[in-house]
Amino acid sequence: MKAWQGRFKESTHHLMEKFNASIVFDKRLYEVDIKGTIAHVTMLSKIGIITENEKDILVKGLNTLFQDIKSGQVEFTLQDEDIHMGIERVLTERLGPVAKKMHTGRSRNDQVATDIKLYVKEAIIEIKGLLKEVMETIWTLSNEYGFMMMPGYTHLQKAQPIYLAYHLNAYIHMFKRDYERLEDVYKRTDVLPLGSGALAGVNYSSDRELLAELLGFESITSNGLDAVSDRDYIIEFQSTLSMMMMHLSRFSEELILWQTEQFGYITIGDGFTTGSSLMPQKKNPDACELIRGKTGRVYGSLMNILTVMKSLPLAYNKDMQEDKEGLFDSIDTVALILSLFAPMLESIEFHESKMKSDVYNSFLNATELADYLVSKQFPFREAHHLTGELVKYCIENNLFLLDVPLKVYQSYTPLIDESVYEVLKFENALENKMSFGSTSTKSVKEDLQILKGFLDAL
Ligand code: ARG
Repeated sequence: MKAWQGRFKESTHHLMEKFNASIVFDKRLYEVDIKGTIAHVTMLSKIGIITENEKDILVKGLNTLFQDIKSGQVEFTLQDEDIHMGIERVLTERLGPVAKKMHTGRSRNDQVATDIKLYVKEAIIEIKGLLKEVMETIWTLSNEYGFMMMPGYTHLQKAQPIYLAYHLNAYIHMFKRDYERLEDVYKRTDVLPLGSGALAGVNYSSDRELLAELLGFESITSNGLDAVSDRDYIIEFQSTLSMMMMHLSRFSEELILWQTEQFGYITIGDGFTTGSSLMPQKKNPDACELIRGKTGRVYGSLMNILTVMKSLPLAYNKDMQEDKEGLFDSIDTVALILSLFAPMLESIEFHESKMKSDVYNSFLNATELADYLVSKQFPFREAHHLTGELVKYCIENNLFLLDVPLKVYQSYTPLIDESVYEVLKFENALENKMSFGSTSTKSVKEDLQILKGFLDAL
């Protein structure tokens, strides 16, 4: 018999049973659900709704049940509908009538909201830890191998020389912002809805502060209607996870490119690549491709929850049961990817000579020539134009800027002298960047220190 059977004459259609049940996927909330119920019955005994003895029986029963579910000894069925009623059903079978008291002053609406918040808070902590490891791994690579010269790109066309560390550090900054976003979502998740009842509050002087203390929430909600209707924290969390996946995907895309024979900047370790069933020579960057690919499902879950919530009248509607699968999937996906990402990065070998030759065989010093002309009193726009003409000359004559004879330079403008060749050296192009946050050794080292300060403080 269902907990809500009283009002019904007929039993639930078997297809409705299947359609309505969330137990298949919300079973994983059992730990937070039991935690919430232990806090709730503790509070009920404190305000005199149940006796101290009843509370002790319930708490003991709940703890045993937790162990039993954990070790796979408890069978839930579709008739249980969801984990909340499943736990109540099993506990009633085990403890008898006393278990029927534990839902006093509580609704599944404030219960489920509390459960998900507890779950999301734990997930945020886990993801933060994994993200920190990824950032530390990138930092170590950057610090160790970072001062290799490589082309920086715009439009995927070689643009200006940069250091590898400058490139790698850019990703640490993206993940740093993700980390800060996680901390921000945590704050809004850390507000307890329990005690809001179905929507209007409850007829008991529930000690909600005590509940918050027992469950480790920073504060309590002050409008029950909002408290049971709110899923913003799920949306914010999924949005942060989506953004994180976007960063991981961009990084993966670059690693895929760098690993191609044409780029040849890196070799990803065998452990994180796979072969072809037909072509014996293949070594494919599948880990990176899957990260890029799985970004789609994380975005998808964000769109799902946004769409589920968009037209819901207050307060709880069964639509909201659809908040869970996408959330769980995104947490699992991101956690797995982050755990794999750090060792995958560590497996990478960087090929300095190829990066360097791609810089040398290029016009990546063209901006230097333009700035050199500016130092000779050319307005920048004219310097840009003249440099462009010199690049055109080089392309037509199969030369790079360092190969152009001084006589030719001087035929374009007599203001160019011998000193131009020093300026055009790629190493100098890098080191001449003097603005704060640039790619010069000094600047990149400063940034490494800034990032180290951030990471050490976590
Ligand atoms: N299984 C439900 C969910 O996940 C629990 C809340 C049900 N509340 C209700 N009033 N039917 O959303």
